[in-house]
Amino acid sequence: MNILIMGPAGSGKGTMSDYIVKEFNIPHISTGDMLRENVKNQTPLGIQAKVLMDQGKLVPDDVVNAMVKERLLQDDCKNGFLMDGFPRTLNQAQALEEICATIGKPIDKVINLEVDFDALATRITGRRVCKNCKATYHITFNKPIVEGICDICGSPLVQRSDDTIEQLKVRLQEHEKNTKPALEFYGAKGLVQDIDASAPMETVWASIKSALGK
Ligand code: AP5
Repeated sequence: MNILIMGPAGSGKGTMSDYIVKEFNIPHISTGDMLRENVKNQTPLGIQAKVLMDQGKLVPDDVVNAMVKERLLQDDCKNGFLMDGFPRTLNQAQALEEICATIGKPIDKVINLEVDFDALATRITGRRVCKNCKATYHITFNKPIVEGICDICGSPLVQRSDDTIEQLKVRLQEHEKNTKPALEFYGAKGLVQDIDASAPMETVWASIKSALGK
């Protein structure tokens, strides 16, 4: 299956992606993770992207479109993929449409996670991520066994530099202004399944699983 997972910052895209890729045995392609890897490695792309990401703004379409095209051409996508955080603009949706037509892998389903502002704020400010393996935790909803330490690799947990209320507000404005049109693009094709993602993780996963026909 070729799946998109969309939703505002902190709605649980990354968390639910872990469940989906295990169930469908497909690669998880997160443009946020790819950009953060570039930032960490201080590539020219990463240096350009960091300034925008720290402000909660979107990275230019041409940069992200090229990154996604290269990734989708890789061999592990031939049996399907899960795209997380892309497309985020109408231009990106149209670019993805062209890439999918070229590789003969049309989008089958778009999962749209819906969560209100207060819940997003609680999730974003309480999120902790592993510095090394990128596993995601929450100080209330998904605690590590030892506070501040990753269960998987034992590395320290940190807060993302864009995980503040101030940046969350900018990220939500970007979502409203730029990502809603991309969502409408797929809505017009009848591909979007809205999911109430304010429930506990296992409940949200059950709704997604059913939406994906499992
Ligand atoms: P990106 O990394 O994609 O960030 P985002 O969309 O803001 O989403 P998040 O990663 O913040 O949240 P999430 O929905 O994955 O939530 P999570 O599962 O972690 O992008 C970052 C930046 O990169 C962008 O702002 C932009 O600058 C740039 N960028 C990326 N893609 C781009 C593109 N295509 N074009 C241009 N620029 C791009 O969950 C959040 C927390 O809540 C966690 O702590 C988790 O444990 C907890 N949680 C999750 N689900 C639940 C639940 N059901 N109940 C309770 N807690 C939960």
